[in-house]
Amino acid sequence: MTNAPNIFISGISRGIGHALVPAFLRAYPEATLFGCARSNVEIDNVTAFKADITSSEDMHTLAAKLPTLDIVIHNAAVLGPRARLVDIDDDVFRQVVDVNLNGSFLMAKYLLPLMTPDGVFVGVSSSVGRQGRAQWGAYSASKHGLEGVLGIVADECPLMHVLSFNPGGTATDMRAEAYPDEDPSTIPSAAEIAQVLVERVVDSTPGLSVLNARDFVS
Ligand SMILES: NC(=O)c1ccc[n+]([C@@H]2O[C@H](COP(=O)([O-])OP(=O)(O)OC[C@H]3O[C@@H](n4cnc5c(N)ncnc54)[C@H](OP(=O)(O)O)[C@@H]3O)[C@@H](O)[C@H]2O)c1
Repeated sequence: MTNAPNIFISGISRGIGHALVPAFLRAYPEATLFGCARSNVEIDNVTAFKADITSSEDMHTLAAKLPTLDIVIHNAAVLGPRARLVDIDDDVFRQVVDVNLNGSFLMAKYLLPLMTPDGVFVGVSSSVGRQGRAQWGAYSASKHGLEGVLGIVADECPLMHVLSFNPGGTATDMRAEAYPDEDPSTIPSAAEIAQVLVERVVDSTPGLSVLNARDFVS
């Protein structure tokens, strides 16, 4: 890995994606950072694009503006309703799948061609993306889809370092939406989890690695 990697982060406007910026700059002070979110964001030391990962047009336009990438962190996602399958509105289910699964496909389709062959491609997943859980419907099903995309990337790009990274419960807006009664001070902060993710990137090896942040938090 070069000491001055070009890094792209989806979902950079808040939460774990936002916290990855200082964490990467500590590990790679010479890095050049790029990111996207649906909202307009201004972040020091980052070239941030307003782009929706569910939009082929946005992703095509975005890719045309990016240089060769050494590290891609696909972090953007939405939670959707916490409800039993039988209670989820059909269109809402499709919207969550559009972000979490179809968005993962578009991230891979448009950004892999920009990447160095031995680059690092990280998908930020979830424990419910590896095992189905009641009332996590569209989120759980679509995160299983993300895991599928990551396995395909690893098989199609054998030199690449592909990480499925499960942050575990992390004090962000998404977590507060899922667990409104939880005291956020009782779980790791986005900064702590971002630090773990960056350390896993630094230590990564070729092939698919399935990681849980909790295994690395003291
Ligand atoms: N927090 C947890 O406890 C936890 C646990 C397990 C897994 N995760 C995973 O960790 C990742 C980060 O979660 P978080 O808690 O930091 O969530 P968050 O605070 O809700 O942030 C999500 C980010 O994704 C962006 N985003 C959402 N939809 C997008 C779209 N269609 N196009 C572009 N950007 C989009 C949002 O920006 P805009 O709204 O501006 O677009 C925001 O920057 C997610 O993949 C999540 O599934 C989180």
